[in-house]
Amino acid sequence: MRPVVAPSLLSANFANLLPDIREMEEAGARVLHFDVMDGHFVPNITVGIPVLKSVKKVTRLPLDVHLMISNPDQMAEPFAEAGADWLTVHYESAVHLNRLLTRLNELGAKPGVALNPHTPVSVLEETLFLCHHVLIMSVNPGFGGQKFISTSFEKVRKLRDLIRSQGLQVQIEIDGGIGPDNTAAAVESGVDIIVAGSAIFHAPNPREIFRQMQQSADEIRAASPGARVPGVRT
Ligand code: DX5
Ligand code: ZN
Repeated sequence: MRPVVAPSLLSANFANLLPDIREMEEAGARVLHFDVMDGHFVPNITVGIPVLKSVKKVTRLPLDVHLMISNPDQMAEPFAEAGADWLTVHYESAVHLNRLLTRLNELGAKPGVALNPHTPVSVLEETLFLCHHVLIMSVNPGFGGQKFISTSFEKVRKLRDLIRSQGLQVQIEIDGGIGPDNTAAAVESGVDIIVAGSAIFHAPNPREIFRQMQQSADEIRAASPGARVPGVRT
């Protein structure tokens, strides 16, 4: 199955998201990444449930909601009810992660856990079986357009080994500083879901960049079909 490039709406036009969403649909996107920041867990504020509901009404694409907030134990469930198809909470801010992921699975929102750059993958040993995906932050969360942290692919490999050692089919997502130049390396390291914001939406031709990235991801996966057995469950 194919890896998926997830355009991040954080770098789209917040004054008028619809044309950017349509452009990504037409380019062949199969999921959209939606960043929620609360000005407390991260030093920036973006959008929340009302905007999620509005976006949900205008697209059939699954929405991959990334909660960079301090209180996911309280707030993740309302986001699931508002239409988050995939829902990622941060390990660093969730207090009762087992309870929260169990609940999100019950609600049918495919849950994931995000790890900040300083958090080792080993903290997920007891939690992976509850995850649809794990998001490796390859920048410190809070802003688009930051520089990729070079050790992130090594971390992806460690996560891939941990997932395999447990015989699970958890998808690996990477977020931050990804563009056409490092998409192939991301997929080679084991990434299934490639988030890209500024590389796509700040380009003169976002559609073309999306296609380049998706093609490069597909080519790498096709060249090593045994590398990942399961595909992205959308
Ligand atoms: C950053 C967000 C990312 C952001 C990535 O905290 O979680 O999803 O959109 O932006 P780029 O792709 O520009 O690094
Ligand atoms: Zn994100």
